[in-house]
Amino acid sequence: MSSTRKSKIIRLLAGCTIALALGSRSPASQGMGAGYFPNIPLITHEGEEVLFYDDLVAGRTVAINFIFTSCPDSCPAETAKLVRVQEELGDRVGKDIFMYSISIDPEYDTPEVLKAYRKKFSIKPGWTFLTGEEDDIIFLRKKLGLYMEEIQNEDNDHNLTFIVGNDRTGKWIKRSPFDNPKVLANLIGFDLFGGQIFRKNAKSYANAPAAPDFTKGDYLFRTRCESCHTIGGGETRLGPDLIGVVERRDPKWLFRWLKEPDKMLEEGDPTAIELFRRYQEIAMPNLRLEDQEIDALIEHMRNESLRIRGRLASNAKRDRESIGSQRGR
Ligand code: HEC
Repeated sequence: MSSTRKSKIIRLLAGCTIALALGSRSPASQGMGAGYFPNIPLITHEGEEVLFYDDLVAGRTVAINFIFTSCPDSCPAETAKLVRVQEELGDRVGKDIFMYSISIDPEYDTPEVLKAYRKKFSIKPGWTFLTGEEDDIIFLRKKLGLYMEEIQNEDNDHNLTFIVGNDRTGKWIKRSPFDNPKVLANLIGFDLFGGQIFRKNAKSYANAPAAPDFTKGDYLFRTRCESCHTIGGGETRLGPDLIGVVERRDPKWLFRWLKEPDKMLEEGDPTAIELFRRYQEIAMPNLRLEDQEIDALIEHMRNESLRIRGRLASNAKRDRESIGSQRGR
C-alpha cells in the first residue's frame, strides 16, 4: 500500500463514524428535516443516482452510518454489529426502516467496490451502500454532527458514534458503538417509533430475556465479539463458531490472536492466513483488549464450551433413552 494511501486511511479512521438517523413515514413535505439536511447527490452500490434527503430520508425511517471499505478494524466490527441489528429488525428493514452506509472514501469506494463489500458481509435488501463527491459527503457529516477533525492517535483509537434519530420528531440520539444489537434494534424499531410498533415481527427484541448476571468475560463477549461469533451456534456469523477453540488452539497462539490478530496476519502466521482465506477475507479486528480482558474472554469461551457440550451430551443421552424405551415397548 502506498504511503499516501496509508496516511489517507489513518485520516479517514478519525471520521469512520456511525449515525443512525430515523425518519418517519410522513410525506416528504412534512418532514422536519427538509430544510435542514443537505439534499446532496449520491450513487448507490447499484449505480443509481439519488438525492440524500428527497430519496433516502424524507418520509422514511432510516439508519445511516459512515464507513470506508478499506478500514481495517472498527468499520468491519461496526458493519458486523449492524448486520445483527438488521437481523433483529427482520423484514421491517426495507419496509419501514431503511439502512444506509455512506462512504467517506468515495474516491476508492466506487459503486462496484461497495457492491462487493456488501456481498462479503452478506447484507440483505433494505440496506444500501452509497458513494458520491467527497466535499458533499464532508458537508453531510458536518450537518449530521458527525464530522470530526483529525483527532486520532497512533492506535487509530478514534471516536466511533452512533446517532439515532427521528426525522419527523427531530429526535436524534448518539449511541456508543459498543451497544448490544438488540438494544439498538429496540431503539430503532420501538423507541423512535414513539413506542408504537408493528408487532408482527417484534418477537426478537420485545421478548428479549432479562439480562442475567454477566461475568466480565461474558459481558465482553456479548459486547465485543457476538456480532461476529457464536459459541455452539454453528456457522451463522461472519467469523467461526468458537466452541472448543480454547482446547483446539495453542494457548500462546490464542492469547496473541486476541491481542493483535492484525499483526499476526501481517507477519504471515499460517493459521491466521488460513482463517482469513476461509472467512471471505474479512479480517478479525484488533479490538485493543487489555491482557486481563483477554484472560476473561478465554475463561468465558472455555466455560461456555463446556456448558454447551454438557447440554448437548445430556440431550443426546435423553434421546438415546427415549429411543431405547420406544424400542422396548
Ligand atoms: C468484525 C467481526 C469480528 C469480531 C467483532 C470479532 N471477530 Fe473473531 N474472528 C473474525 C473472523 C472473520 C475470524 C476468522 C479469521 C479471519 O478472517 O481473520 C475470526 C477468528 C477468531 C478466532 C480464531 C478461531 C479459530 O478457529 O481459531 C478467535 C478465537 C476469535 N475470532 C475470537 C474473537 C473474540 C474473543 C472476539 C471479541 C473480543 C472476536 N473474535 C471479535 C471476526 C470477528
